[in-house]
Parts: sequence; C-alpha cells; structure tokens
Amino acid sequence: MILITGAAGYIGSHTAINFLNNGYEVVVFDNLENGHIQTVNALKKIGNVHFVQGDLRNISDIESVFEKYKIDAVIHFAAFALVGESVENPAKYYRNNVFGTMNLLDIMVKYDVKKIVFSSTCATYGEPKYTPIDENHPQNPINPYGNSKLCVEYMLKDYDVAYGLKSIRLRYFNVAGCDEEARVGEWHEPETHLVPNILKSTFGNGKKFKIFGNDYDTVDGTCIRDYVNVEDLAEAHRLAYKYLCDNNESNVFNLGTEQGDSVKQVFDTCEKVLNRKIDVEIVERRPGDPAKLYANASKAKQILGWSPKRTLENSIQSAYKWECNLDNFKNNV
Ligand code: UFG
Repeated sequence: MILITGAAGYIGSHTAINFLNNGYEVVVFDNLENGHIQTVNALKKIGNVHFVQGDLRNISDIESVFEKYKIDAVIHFAAFALVGESVENPAKYYRNNVFGTMNLLDIMVKYDVKKIVFSSTCATYGEPKYTPIDENHPQNPINPYGNSKLCVEYMLKDYDVAYGLKSIRLRYFNVAGCDEEARVGEWHEPETHLVPNILKSTFGNGKKFKIFGNDYDTVDGTCIRDYVNVEDLAEAHRLAYKYLCDNNESNVFNLGTEQGDSVKQVFDTCEKVLNRKIDVEIVERRPGDPAKLYANASKAKQILGWSPKRTLENSIQSAYKWECNLDNFKNNV
C-alpha cells in the first residue's frame, strides 16, 4: 500500500491517480487545510483509496496510519508552498514542512518503512548561477519556503546514513495543466500561479491578468520558466518509486521540460488555445522572481527513463477544461 501525504492537493492528487491507474492501493493523508474533500471523493471513484484526515504536526495522527495500514512506501507532498507567505510567516513553514516531515520520517523508521519519494523544488537552488540548472547547481534558497524544502533534503540524507531510509528527492520546476478528464485539478485559494491566473481572467470576474514586469534581461523582457505538465510529473513519482524498489538507493532528480517559456509566450499560447484575445496589463516586478529558470533534466531521462510527453499547449487545454468545470467541482461535496 502506498501512502500519499497531501494527496487532496494539486500534484498529490494527480500522482494518486497515476498510482491507482497502475493498480496500487493508496492511503491519502491530508489535513484538508489546502487540500479539498471533493478531491478525495473524486479519487475514491477512480480506485482503491483509503482516506485519513490528519496533520503531520501531530505525530499521533501519522502514527495511526502506520498502525492501521501496511505501508510499503511514502510519496510525500504535504507542505505549504507559497513563497510570499513563507517570508511573512516562516514559523508556519518550518513547523509544517520541516517539523511535520520529521514526524513522518521518525514514524517511518519506527515502523521500518524505508522508501520515500519527496516533493522538493527548484526553489532550493535560489538565484541561478547558470541555466539550464542541473542537480549539481549550488543550493542557496532565497526564501523560507526554499529553505524549508532544503532542510528536508538534508534530513533525508542524514536519515539514510543513520537509519537506512532511502529517498528520492524530486526537484520540480513550474507545474501546469490538469487531469485530461478534469476529474481533479488545480484549486488554490488564493491562486497565484501564472496559467490559472491567465485563464481565470477570461471568466469575467473583473480581475484583469497582470504581467509582473517586462524589463527582465530575457527575449521579451518577461520572466522565463520551465512549465512541466502535472500528469507527466505524476508519472515521474511512480518511476522514482520503482527506482527505489529496484535499486534500494537514494538519489535526486530535476523534473522539467528543459524548455524555457516567457510569461508573454505562455500568455500568447493561452490566447491561441482559447482562440480569443485576453486583456492584460503590465505591472511592477513581483519581488523575488528570478529572470530565468529552466531545467537540465537529462538525469531523470537517463536513469528513471522519464520523458515529459505533454506540451505547454496540452497543459493549457487541460487547465482550461478544469477551470470551466471548477464551480461544479466545488459544489460536488
Ligand atoms: N506571473 C505573472 N502574473 C501572475 C502570476 C505569475 O506575471 O498573475 C509570473 C511570475 O512573475 C513569474 C511567472 O509568472 O515570472 C511564474 O510565476 P508562478 O507564480 O506561476 O510560479 P513561480 O515561478 O513563482 O513559482 C513556482 C512554484 C513555487 C516554487 C517556484 C520555484 O509555484 O512553489 O516555482 O521557483 F517555489
């Protein structure tokens, strides 16, 4: 049985679908602070899902899962992930992302569960010294969110040496798109990400889409990111789990498409996919945005055999289908 923490959230739920489609039984552990019960209900319709509402900050919550179920491995997503909020309230990030993960790891050791796939981030690299960014790029995060994820990476290395806990640390770049059938999708409150913000602005809610700065040193002055499709990313988690089973050794992989797209290019692609003009306004830079981030993901290709199959257009198409259905989904408790 596979335990997926944070599976009522965006990337966790897509990963749960991938495991379910491949015949695994899944335990969803989520405190529903950012995750949604509607997502859990959607997952239950797809496969063999057990749901435990609990919080990693309470060690008894997570211990009850290991008491009740025979867990083979953990895929760990549960975390707060807003950069701006982490600057204002770092305690929240260290308590949940670091201390909560430590509770999880300690219980794994106690119950002799020795495999974990961890959701890390390219934010652990900080301001890039070179692009594309490979796994050997120095890790110097520039905000508490990145720091909290890097702390866990250190913890995982040390728990391997001391307790034989094997981990795969996956450093994601920017994630986009949704389940092609719109059974689950991206539902953040507040929404801060680029693709959903562009799409939401077309629904007549009065919120014009804003580009944060067009004076960066890039092709068109807007920031460049590497947008990897969430279903492709989900597949990488299953391949990482398989790698742990086959090799019983820890490792780290970047996950990205190796292609950089500027904010303007993403915006243009949205207009193309929706076949309409979208209102836009250029505003000030958002603090803390590096000009250019994209991955060298060749290691994941070579070692995990992972290759992203979906394009940015595919991600925008599936995200739009999801946005059109989101109000229905919300009402479907
Ligand atoms: N952007 C806009 N307007 C918006 C939203 C975003 O112009 O309404 C721009 C941002 O300034 C940035 C780009 O679009 O240049 C992408 O922004 P996102 O907020 O979608 O994503 P980030 O690159 O800021 O953050 C993502 C993850 C974080 C992770 C980070 C690592 O969401 O969790 O990558 O760099 F930490």
